[in-house]
Amino acid sequence: MKLVVIYGSPRKTASITYHMIGLFKDELMKYGPVTFTEFFLPQDLPHFCTGCYNCFFKGENDCPHASYVQPIAAAIREADGMIFSSPVYALAESASMKALLDHFAYIYMPHRPMEEMFSKTAFILSVTAGAGTGHCIKTISTSLKFWGVKRIYKYGKALAAWKWGEIKASKKETASKALKKQAKKFYSATQKRHQLKSSLFTRIIFFVMKKMHSGSNTESLDATYWHEKGWLTKECTPFKNTHTI
Ligand SMILES: Cc1cc2nc3c(=O)[nH]c(=O)nc-3n(C[C@H](O)[C@H](O)[C@H](O)COP(=O)(O)O)c2cc1C
Repeated sequence: MKLVVIYGSPRKTASITYHMIGLFKDELMKYGPVTFTEFFLPQDLPHFCTGCYNCFFKGENDCPHASYVQPIAAAIREADGMIFSSPVYALAESASMKALLDHFAYIYMPHRPMEEMFSKTAFILSVTAGAGTGHCIKTISTSLKFWGVKRIYKYGKALAAWKWGEIKASKKETASKALKKQAKKFYSATQKRHQLKSSLFTRIIFFVMKKMHSGSNTESLDATYWHEKGWLTKECTPFKNTHTI
């Protein structure tokens, strides 16, 4: 199994999210061989989106930050599943994580969704001192839903700490048990990802976008992409297991 891991913070030794993702990875590897391709933010994407619209109108390779974004996109395309982690900063996801999501707006379903995304799974982890994991996870998960991801698993935890080393063993044990459960679900879904049915949300949004692009007579990059994918014909969808909506 191939997984991509995206860390919303560059911290390692002291980082709580880093250690919790470590526990999650250890659990996954108990089920079978797993290779992880990891990206740390902001180093691996050290820019904010400039709002130039090049990705939408010219193509993703014309993004001024394509040399950072496209290696991440390629790893995501190749992976069976994705793992996202972010500490809570100011009651939300880290700015680095949001910057990554902004750079991937061009793969939202209304634009040029990656066909492979419709059979991928994701796990989102967020950790906070006191509050904010709900908001943090929601932002990431909303993007992933619009990317077309098939199954999204989530875990958020308030640990009243800023260093892994200062957390009591009993709290680590509770978090570890919860991660174990999530790892089991995530691994199993990722393993049978091609057999799972896409969510109603994904199918509805895809269908609405199909209608929108079918009715448009522009030669925009997005419309051309949908046409070239064959998705504008009645029967053709990326939902391999069921084929029709
Ligand atoms: C800039 C910054 C902002 C933070 N904002 C919040 C916050 O709004 N609410 C909260 O409960 N904790 C907040 N925290 C604490 C972190 O969410 C918490 O310590 C988290 O576990 C850190 O994860 P890490 O160790 O992986 O970096 C903040 C920490 C930083 C550095």
